Formats: sequence, structure tokens, C-alpha cells
Amino acid sequence: MKGVTVVTHPLVQHNLTRLRDRRTGPQEFRRVLSEVAALMLYEATRSFAVLPRSVRTPLAPAAGYQLRREVVLVPVLRAGLGMLDSILQLIPNARVGFIGLKREETTLRAMFYHKSLPADLSPFEVILIDPMLATGGSAVAALDLLFEQKAKQVRLVTLVAAPEGIRRVRSRYPSIPIFTAAVDQKLNGRGYILPGLGDAGDRLFGV
Ligand code: PRP
Ligand code: URA
Repeated sequence: MKGVTVVTHPLVQHNLTRLRDRRTGPQEFRRVLSEVAALMLYEATRSFAVLPRSVRTPLAPAAGYQLRREVVLVPVLRAGLGMLDSILQLIPNARVGFIGLKREETTLRAMFYHKSLPADLSPFEVILIDPMLATGGSAVAALDLLFEQKAKQVRLVTLVAAPEGIRRVRSRYPSIPIFTAAVDQKLNGRGYILPGLGDAGDRLFGV
């Protein structure tokens, strides 16, 4: 699928399988999700723009680079929180915005309950973080908000995506890069990804 990068690195796939395993409890789920998030970020930031920057080593001048734009990480609550810490360790100077969204159980519509973002996202590389892309309703609502806040460079980092969700994001935002560890088969009648990993927020927090 165009613009969708499936990260097939063996460590990502190994950890994804542990997350899928129903026997993995919240403590291990938190740890593994955090580990896999860092690996996903590595791939998702590969195309970040850089500027040349020269420094002096103790011995001689050295040509190098620095990131061109500051980064804003935006986890979608709750499940996106499980990916935040390890990503912040890789980009410690990133700012962090939050979007609280809850899918209404019967309509599957995503409802906002929290928004906390820089007013002007235009100078930043924005990374939207949510492990699950199911119907795509939450991702589209979050992306709509980011673009209302003038975002220019946005990428979506997820872990398990349904074809339905990818299509929905694609039809509204054809050029947003999407990074995922898997594109699963389909949604079930209740909007859950099959085979998926269940309810990511519940598995992460045990409620
Ligand atoms: C889950 C998940 C996504 C959303 C995906 O969150 O973390 O945000 O569902 O579904 P969609 O693509 O159909 O919108 P949920 O609303 O269950 O909230 P939670 O993370 O607090 O459990
Ligand atoms: N949200 C989840 O956490 N899991 C799904 O399979 C779908 C939506």
C-alpha cells in the first residue's frame, strides 16, 4: 500500500507476537510495547530532514548534521501512552502533546475528551502515536486536529493496522506516511482488528 511502511525487522515482529499472545499480562505488555515503540520510531524517523552542522572533536573539525525541525510527539490516550516513554528516550528534547479520544462502543465514533497541543504546529515534525489503527476514526479525528493546529509534517506510528483503517486515513490524507508493524486481515463486527491483539488500552493498563 502506497505510503504505508510495514516494519518487518525481526525484533519488531518477535515483540509484536508477544503482544498478540493472550497470555501476555499488563506488566509484560507495557514493557514489550515500550521496546517495540523505540524500534518503530527508528524506522519512522529515517526520512527526517537534517541540516549540516560542523563541530570540533578534541582532535579536528568534523562535518555532521542536526535535525532540521523540533519534534512534537502526540500520543493518543490511552494506548499511545504505552509507546511514549521509550520514544522520548530517543528524542529527549521533543515536546509532547496529548489527544484523548475514546471510541463510542456502539457507533465506533471517536469522541474527544482531551486536547493539549502547541497552538502552532507548523514548525515541527509531528509524530502521532497510537498502537491501533482499526476503523481509522480515531486517527482521522486526531489528524484533523493536528492540521487545524497548522501541522505541516505529520507521520503516524502505529503497531497493528486494519486495511479498513488505512483506507480511511488514506482517503482523507493521501500523503501522510503510516508506519506499522502489521497490516492485519480485517475488523470484526465490533470494530476490533482480527487477529489484532485485543483492546490495547485494556491490556496495557489492566482495566
Ligand atoms: C483504541 C486505540 C485507538 C482506537 C482505534 O482506543 O488505542 O485509539 O481504539 O480504533 P479506531 O481506529 O476504530 O478509531 P480506545 O478508543 O479503545 O481508547 P483507549 O485507548 O482508552 O482504550
Ligand atoms: N482498539 C483496540 O485497542 N483494538 C482493536 O482491535 C480496535 C480498536
